[in-house]
Amino acid sequence: MEFQLSSVDQQNYSGDAVAILVKQEEIFSDDYIQNLLSSNRFDGKKGSSFIALAGDHFNCSRVLFIGIGDQEYTGKRYIETLNEISALCSKNHITDLFIPKFDITDQNEEWIHQTTSRVLTNLTYQVDKIGSDSTNDDLELEKVVIQSNLTDQSKLDYGYSIAQGMHLCRTLGDMPPNICTPTYLSETAKNLANDLGLKVEILEESDMKNLGMNSLLSVSKGSIEKPKLISLSYQGNKKSKPIVLVGKGVTFDTGGISLKPGQAMDEMKYDMCGAASVMGVMKAVALMKLPVNLTVVVPTVENMPAHNASKPGDVVKSMSGQTIEILNTDAEGRLILCDALTYVQKYDPEIVIDVATLTGACIIALGKVNSGLMSNNQALADEIIKASESSNDGVWQLPISDEYDEQLKSNFADMANIGGREAGSVTAACFLARFTKDYKWAHLDIAGTAWNSGANKGATGRPVPLLSEIILNRLS
Ligand code: BES
Ligand code: MN
Ligand code: ZN
Repeated sequence: MEFQLSSVDQQNYSGDAVAILVKQEEIFSDDYIQNLLSSNRFDGKKGSSFIALAGDHFNCSRVLFIGIGDQEYTGKRYIETLNEISALCSKNHITDLFIPKFDITDQNEEWIHQTTSRVLTNLTYQVDKIGSDSTNDDLELEKVVIQSNLTDQSKLDYGYSIAQGMHLCRTLGDMPPNICTPTYLSETAKNLANDLGLKVEILEESDMKNLGMNSLLSVSKGSIEKPKLISLSYQGNKKSKPIVLVGKGVTFDTGGISLKPGQAMDEMKYDMCGAASVMGVMKAVALMKLPVNLTVVVPTVENMPAHNASKPGDVVKSMSGQTIEILNTDAEGRLILCDALTYVQKYDPEIVIDVATLTGACIIALGKVNSGLMSNNQALADEIIKASESSNDGVWQLPISDEYDEQLKSNFADMANIGGREAGSVTAACFLARFTKDYKWAHLDIAGTAWNSGANKGATGRPVPLLSEIILNRLS
């Protein structure tokens, strides 16, 4: 899909279709348009639409009218409109579309440019069905022209690049777990490095043993799939310290000896969505050629039950030197993340954000709407909340105070890897906080937001928009 800015009038656009957003009961000063609306009894109710042949008044073939209702027209509503536009274009085989300039109460024109190209491109994602070579021959929306007097197209390119990052994230997430293994993720990272000119480093099991990453290795030891620690670095700036993103890469989470129940266990292939999202952000940032330094680190393992798997009661020493009593082998995400979070100190990070499908409790607390946010630095948390609002990729902050941390007490090690039923997402973050004392850190629990279940089962590409926005905001 291609995006352009243009200052032409809607009447003079000579392509296939023009989209006109109609407020409820809106009266147009343009008689031709007003007559079309009246004769079709179109009142602009939210969710309504109709397509008219354009006639002599326009230069294009068809006009697409979309009702936007009578409520305040915010950025959030515009994103709903984009979803409707995309569906209408597919249904009516619209190949190119002109979107006239209009006002959004809480966002500016540049936001409209970036968001339009991001949302419409993301909607073109299709699942790779194994063994089928279904090519889509349908006429599809190929070109979108946005009316603007601005000439800088970079926001359109940013939106497109972020959508490419979301596509990578979704492709990896949706991939079956017999294909998307830790080794597959490390090969993907090498290919990304090749294509985008990044630095890549893959630590093998023996390297991790030498570094003392016994917590991470305790999770992978029951699996035939070898663990990997992937680092990818993009240097767009000579001077600054890197932003470091760490993504949980459990390519399948059976729970281990603390085996999960069978219900919906297939969805535990999505337990590497943190990894997929940080790799997606790396792709987006490299495509945008931003003047920042970004490093993404992915600890990746498969969590299996086996004769040689970790057992409840096992005690391991993490790379940080702190010891952990593994009371539940299903709380494995924190066990791989803690060693990765110790490892990233070597990058002397400006900030570290980890992204993980960490707790079922987060879905109970926040549902599928917001990712959980926890941080040891309120300024960083505020920065993330602000970026979540403009990217429409929501977060909600949860506390990580000392009272919660006490739930991790163990009689046999420095800490246990679980803190009981209460505040499960918070105690998971408290566990990680014990390994992130030396830098500004935030944790995103994406257990509820990384994928949809049911008939629309599939990866969402979140939080690639949020993380990209955080990085973009740091530039200005
Ligand atoms: N990957 C799961 C969390 C999860 C579960 C995400 C369901 C999305 C949907 C994680 O490894 C896990 O199993 N967490 C346990 C922690 C518990 C044992 C303290 C959980 O949430 O039950
Ligand atoms: Mn688990
Ligand atoms: Zn898990």
